[in-house]
Amino acid sequence: MTMRSKLMVGNWKMNGSLVANASLVNAILDDIATVNCRAAVCVPAVFLAQLQALLAGSCIGLGAQDVSAHASGAYTGEVSADMLRDFAVRYCIVGHSERRQYHAESDALVAIKAQRALAAGITPIVCVGESLAERDAGQTEHVVKRQLAAVIHANGHCISEIVVAYEPLWAIGTGLTATPEQAQQVHAVLRAQLQAASSHADLISILYGGSMNAANAAELLAQPDVDGGLIGGAALKAPDFLSMLKTASR
Ligand code: 13P
Repeated sequence: MTMRSKLMVGNWKMNGSLVANASLVNAILDDIATVNCRAAVCVPAVFLAQLQALLAGSCIGLGAQDVSAHASGAYTGEVSADMLRDFAVRYCIVGHSERRQYHAESDALVAIKAQRALAAGITPIVCVGESLAERDAGQTEHVVKRQLAAVIHANGHCISEIVVAYEPLWAIGTGLTATPEQAQQVHAVLRAQLQAASSHADLISILYGGSMNAANAAELLAQPDVDGGLIGGAALKAPDFLSMLKTASR
């Protein structure tokens, strides 16, 4: 038995258009009646207003994919946590591996972004994960613990308010999913680390991400410490996303 209801989050990454978003969301909402897990979609910032309207009154929460480490001011191109809050954003991905890789985001920067989100009343979805080289070198635990430690250190007693997503880099967009056992092993390590930091760690959702799809979701979600999914490609297809939401609702 767990106290945590499943949380399924679509990460649309840099995909979508006004027309495509409306048809995707309407197709999802058309068949949402039997879904009773928690759900959200993290969309490109330019679409937040559109999605706020499309999702109004639905059970699907609105999420962003990144947030500035700064509160406001001369930071051209950035979006602050308060701005996200203005559009009723409830979740914000921080430290996605694509931001760590392509935008050189450090553990310390990711920790500050999580702090900014929490201060605005937004749940940060903190991503951690090892590369294939790190896994092959036996460094998986060391890497994910280092990434999470920075966030724990910067966020102290608020830590029970975060969501964690374990996304092994070698599984993202590759069709190579971690086995349920591989996922559970890392999730248990992360859970223990959270338990050492907070007496409420059992309430923290730890999501798995990396080629999760309608065919493999059930066995991943059956693991005791896999509390949901952070889904890329398969979240862009209404039937697939719906199927995963239904799996998580069982
Ligand atoms: P895919 O599901 O496309 O592998 O992406 C996973 C991911 O990075 C979600 O944040």
